[in-house]
Amino acid sequence: MTEERLVSPRSGEDEQQIEKSLRPKRLGEFIGQEKVVDHLRIAIAAAQGRSEPLDHTLLYGPPGLGKTSLAGVLANEMGVNLKITSGPAIERAGDLAAVLTNLQKGDILFIDEIHRLNRAVEEVMYPAMEDFALDLMVGKGPSARSMRLKLPPFTVIGATTRLALLTSPLRDRFGSIHRMEFYSDDALYEIVVRSASILSVEATKDGAFEVARRARGTPRIVNRLLRRVRDYAQVKGDGIITLDIAQESLARLEVDELGMDENDRRLLRAIIDLFNGGPVGLSTLAASLAEEVDAIEDVYEPFLLQLGFLQRTPRGRVATRRAYDHLGIAYVERSIEGGGQARMW
Ligand SMILES: Nc1ncnc2c1ncn2[C@@H]1O[C@H](COP(=O)(O)OP(=O)(O)O)[C@@H](O)[C@H]1O
Ligand SMILES: [Mg+2]
Repeated sequence: MTEERLVSPRSGEDEQQIEKSLRPKRLGEFIGQEKVVDHLRIAIAAAQGRSEPLDHTLLYGPPGLGKTSLAGVLANEMGVNLKITSGPAIERAGDLAAVLTNLQKGDILFIDEIHRLNRAVEEVMYPAMEDFALDLMVGKGPSARSMRLKLPPFTVIGATTRLALLTSPLRDRFGSIHRMEFYSDDALYEIVVRSASILSVEATKDGAFEVARRARGTPRIVNRLLRRVRDYAQVKGDGIITLDIAQESLARLEVDELGMDENDRRLLRAIIDLFNGGPVGLSTLAASLAEEVDAIEDVYEPFLLQLGFLQRTPRGRVATRRAYDHLGIAYVERSIEGGGQARMW
């Protein structure tokens, strides 16, 4: 179900081609995330000044906020190759050794979902990142010995949606760690304008802004909504995305004023109706929705927390008064020991 959601921040397979065409290539085209961008601008200048590779950099935050794009931007700015892999793709230590021995000086190795590297592979990562060295075991049995191979200096860019799942030795090997934030409506508006021009779609200012503000702070979603609204504009209007067209088409797609869809509402309603507003444990909640715990933590929660509709307490998830108000459900304050409020009936 999650995969087909219009407002899912994860990308579908058929989407990857179009995403590529909409990806910013240079830092100057990368909209928003000012804090991260400022920091990287300095890091790039410093590394170039010393003719050294960029420091190992870890990017974390919800899906669809530009982690992969940023890795590409950094490679372009540094004028180096970008090698892309992911935690689950590197199954054995030997797989990683093969990747590492193919790197050239300064190259960027992008490891997506880096929290999913297995233990044996991680052990190879430590000396590779710290000393640009690869420790190999040569021979078998009593005659086995370890041999150290020098690697050219390179940069690891790691991306993860779940910083907490990274082991601390791995985390410690990153020179800088950046959190990607949800985008402001203004930044998303700029992204809509940029993407519309690449896709040759015409949009009025308020039409474009309407798409932006319903995209739950996420560039991947704003681009997807833009394409759907464009279709609607073509069929029902004269191809121009006006405010009316945007509103009508988003209403038909059941994306509400805040960018929430039926799945978000279903999650909040479950907390309110089945668990009296909470607190309810994550796994209980996931089971009641027939959802994966991961999907709830990675996809639903960050946005609902950001809206202030959901709270995490030591005893579980709680729906806030704002959530009740948004869903039009009566709310009566009641304090529960250890956190949260819920209705009295
Ligand atoms: N800062 C940005 N400016 C413009 N477009 C962006 C930006 N960040 C992301 N995008 C768009 O969103 C899409 C998803 O970004 P991506 O880098 O794949 O996110 P992540 O790797 O964090 O899931 C990209 O295809 C790109 O078109
Ligand atoms: Mg990505």
